[in-house]
Amino acid sequence: MSSKVYIETYGCQMNFADTEIVLGILKNNGYSVAKSLEEADVVLLNTCSIRDNAEQRIYGRLGNLKNYKNQKPDLLLGILGCMAERLRKDLIEEKKIVDLVVGPDEYRRLPEYLDIAFSGDKGIGVRLSRTETYDDIEPYREDGLSAWISVMRGCDKFCTFCVVPFTRGRERSRSLQSIVQEVENLSLRGFKEVTLLGQNVNSYRDGENDFADLLEAVAKVDRNMRIRFTTSHPQDMSDKLLFTIAENPNVCNYIHLPVQSGSNRILELMNRTYTVEHYLNLIEKARKIIPGVSFSTDIIAGFPTETWEDHLATLEVMKTVRYDGAYMFKYSPREGTKAYKMRDDVPDDIKTKRLQEIIDLQQTISYEKNQELIGKEEIVLVEGFSRKSEKFFSGRTDTNKVVVFPINDSVSVGDYVKIKINRATSATLFGDYIEQYQQKDSLVLKCL
Ligand code: 5AD
Ligand code: SF4
Repeated sequence: MSSKVYIETYGCQMNFADTEIVLGILKNNGYSVAKSLEEADVVLLNTCSIRDNAEQRIYGRLGNLKNYKNQKPDLLLGILGCMAERLRKDLIEEKKIVDLVVGPDEYRRLPEYLDIAFSGDKGIGVRLSRTETYDDIEPYREDGLSAWISVMRGCDKFCTFCVVPFTRGRERSRSLQSIVQEVENLSLRGFKEVTLLGQNVNSYRDGENDFADLLEAVAKVDRNMRIRFTTSHPQDMSDKLLFTIAENPNVCNYIHLPVQSGSNRILELMNRTYTVEHYLNLIEKARKIIPGVSFSTDIIAGFPTETWEDHLATLEVMKTVRYDGAYMFKYSPREGTKAYKMRDDVPDDIKTKRLQEIIDLQQTISYEKNQELIGKEEIVLVEGFSRKSEKFFSGRTDTNKVVVFPINDSVSVGDYVKIKINRATSATLFGDYIEQYQQKDSLVLKCL
């Protein structure tokens, strides 16, 4: 009987995509996928190191699993992902918790490391690679509507707060042709949405092709598929990419464009390599080229030396751009980064206060923006029942807003439907079904 593997995934979408690659590799090597922890012979945690609280949560989970392993001594327990890279032998030698530590560029050899662990030794693989892209690996995916595809790995930006260049290594791109082929397969399987992933997709390169070329090639595969992508870096976003988004009807009008701070002094300390003025010009240009485009962002509160004025400048940028959504964090020092050497001098209670102000402001803006949609019609991809009740369907607009509407016999999951919005909170739009949506003129009607 084949051994069964269970993977718990933490952190960013890239990790979720990696888990599918890992399962693909393990299936090719005779493993099967356990549906629950209880039936697993191998339990792997695909981990995240981006902030200390992410790591603490995973340590907590490891504590639980250690107790579980005491009752089931044959179980193998392993760490994958960024913590494997960052903490390496520490997890095995000092903590003595796990049998296996394998970093993001060593998944191809995971079966070997598992063999070592099954034979009673520790399996450790934490080398980073300049070339590994898992180009030829078919990820293991359950049937569904949405898929993530990592189109590049690593990051060369070295923002001073960020551990990613150390845990995921140097930037490298997958071949355009292998990505297009994966999208073709997903289309045949009935997937309706693909998100292209990379820490900084704008520096994608495959020979002559840049990210705009990739996006266009992927968008052409199936015009009934929505194409999303993340993350864009404000310094590298080209006009060509903006035009590609505008010209391809099924590329969603949604750009995740992390600003991190509204203060030029802080942006410089963060090594973000752009100014607030450059950032705001880019937003303005994108809005001209792509009518109706919406933006989300990442913001860090309490970076070293951040003053009250710097914080106010961040609030100011938020008011100017009026983001549709934001991921907002307290600064967390990460060992090995440049910022780690700066004194973490903003006290925690001040960080908390600033973060709360940022969250409150974003909530107000989201609420106001959603109110503006009342009475308007939106095209929604139906994703399933709403979380709260099976009397309602839930789906998303191309600008990534959740829409809830009463179930209806003429609607099934996977349909594109027109919904008239009649009520809104800061997080959700509510509406009524009008009709099925058929793509009529791909160049006129944006994003299905
Ligand atoms: N502290 C707080 N937030 C961080 N991020 C990355 N590193 C840190 C850190 N050390 C945030 C950034 C990034 C997002 C993925 O996580 O905003 O864009
Ligand atoms: Fe980290 Fe900056 Fe790279 Fe994003 S662009 S992964 S924040 S170093």
